[in-house]
Amino acid sequence: MKSCSAMESTSCIKFSLMSLIWIIVLMNEIHGYKACLETERTALLEIKSFFISVSDIGYDDEILPSWVGEDDGMPSDCCDDWEGVKCNATTRRVMQLSLNYTERLNYYDGTSASLMNMSLFHPFEELQSLDLSGNGFAGIYENRAYDSFGSLKQLKMLNLGFNYFNDNILPYLNTLTSLTTLILNWNSIEGSRTKQGLANLRYLQVLDLSWNADMTSGSLTRLGRLLR
Ligand SMILES: *[C@@H]1O[C@H](CO)[C@@H](O)[C@H](O)[C@H]1NC(C)=O
Ligand SMILES: *[C@@H]1O[C@H](CO)[C@@H](O)[C@H](O)[C@H]1NC(C)=O
Ligand SMILES: *[C@@H]1O[C@H](CO)[C@@H](O)[C@H](O)[C@H]1NC(C)=O
Repeated sequence: MKSCSAMESTSCIKFSLMSLIWIIVLMNEIHGYKACLETERTALLEIKSFFISVSDIGYDDEILPSWVGEDDGMPSDCCDDWEGVKCNATTRRVMQLSLNYTERLNYYDGTSASLMNMSLFHPFEELQSLDLSGNGFAGIYENRAYDSFGSLKQLKMLNLGFNYFNDNILPYLNTLTSLTTLILNWNSIEGSRTKQGLANLRYLQVLDLSWNADMTSGSLTRLGRLLR
């Protein structure tokens, strides 16, 4: 540097170092401060890979296209720039995930139904609202599923509508004790297999069971009636 030759060499190095530190601090103020959590960003990219893996071939570019590491060389913030992701303004942690109609299939019927991996949502401790409707899921990977549901301690809204879930999902849903809204319309739930049903969901205000297989009897119909 030209300005350096005029100064003593040690103070010159000090000056350069200080400038460098200030630049790093400023960059952090501009980017790091507002950025979404790295663990959650990584977890979101895993969710994207999952949806690509369960979709038919040829849809890769249409699945969550805004979920990218960089956008034309510009850093892309998962809180501000990614579709379907909403973060808490203070903590910058993911609060809301809209993954409705994300899986892409050429044919939409029960035979191509896939399983949802709930472990993917493990890192989102502040998640309040999760929409997984319209994805053609027939169930969940049950390995460690109770742990995964158990980590969603703040989940208030869950939409699983327009899938192929049956009564096997109910014991898992019954662990989501902070739920206030549970949408299960257009699935294959009968509500008769389990006596306990969703009795643990004591804050539940809205339960949508419309257009399910055969909801004529069982604890869920009674619970639905109580809520109405
Ligand atoms: C965001 O997080 C802060 C700190 O934990 C909390 O007080 C606030 O209620 C949260 N906001 C929403 C909208 O949940
Ligand atoms: C997903 O749901 C949100 C509202 O919850 C809606 O605005 C959005 O258009 C839906 N996306 C798709 C692909 O249906
Ligand atoms: C589910 O997701 C977790 C976390 O990404 C992963 O470790 C696990 O292998 C997945 N399980 C299946 C069956 O794909």
